Amino acid sequence: MDNDYFYEPALGHGLPHDPFNAIVGPRPIGWISTRAADGVLNLAPYSFFNAFNYTPPLIGFASLGRKDTLRNIEETGEFVWNLATRPLAEAMNASCAAAPPEVDEFQLAGLTPARSNIVGVPRVAQSPVAFECRRTQIIRLQGASGADTNSWLILGEVVGVHIAQELLRDGIYDTAGSRTILRGGGPADYFEIQPDSLFRMTRPSYP
Ligand SMILES: Cc1cc2nc3c(=O)[nH]c(=O)nc-3n(C[C@H](O)[C@H](O)[C@H](O)COP(=O)(O)O)c2cc1C
Repeated sequence: MDNDYFYEPALGHGLPHDPFNAIVGPRPIGWISTRAADGVLNLAPYSFFNAFNYTPPLIGFASLGRKDTLRNIEETGEFVWNLATRPLAEAMNASCAAAPPEVDEFQLAGLTPARSNIVGVPRVAQSPVAFECRRTQIIRLQGASGADTNSWLILGEVVGVHIAQELLRDGIYDTAGSRTILRGGGPADYFEIQPDSLFRMTRPSYP
């Protein structure tokens, strides 16, 4: 690439907005519910989020700084991931407010906690999919020099899965019909999964 724009992040990007999370996007959202040791419920979105393994199923997200979600998972070893969909977008956004630990973000966002089957943390009743999770690892992230960052990767095993019946069509999970929202870049960009953005491609066989 002759005419590419190149920068070294450590020296600054030199652009009006950092393009990093606009490029690595849209990202799925880890909408994470937890419970503090004293019982207060917590709910917050994390878009540095993804799935990492099938057997056992493992998911993870990064806490940039020591946030209430991280502290709760350190204390209880449990969390729930809730699917953020277009009808829940505004509530998801409301749940990111930097509320003090004693504030229940389910209440703040106008959402209803529903009992989980295995873990002691409730899921979002309005969300059509939830994963009940047990913490597996919490890893403090490092830069290339080995210096600690102020970020932590929180990984958990999915031990229970809830799926609303309407998202199972002949037993197949209907991603295209889920209205899942994804985080783009900049201060406010999101994408919604729509049926017309689906295309199919099977893996090549070799030789
Ligand atoms: C869509 C979205 C994605 C976010 N992703 C992250 C993230 O990946 N990591 C992070 O530390 N904060 C992220 N935030 C900000 C947190 O949600 C926010 O700091 C929240 O107050 C943390 O809540 P807690 O202290 O209850 O855990 C995100 C916010 C939004 C709206």
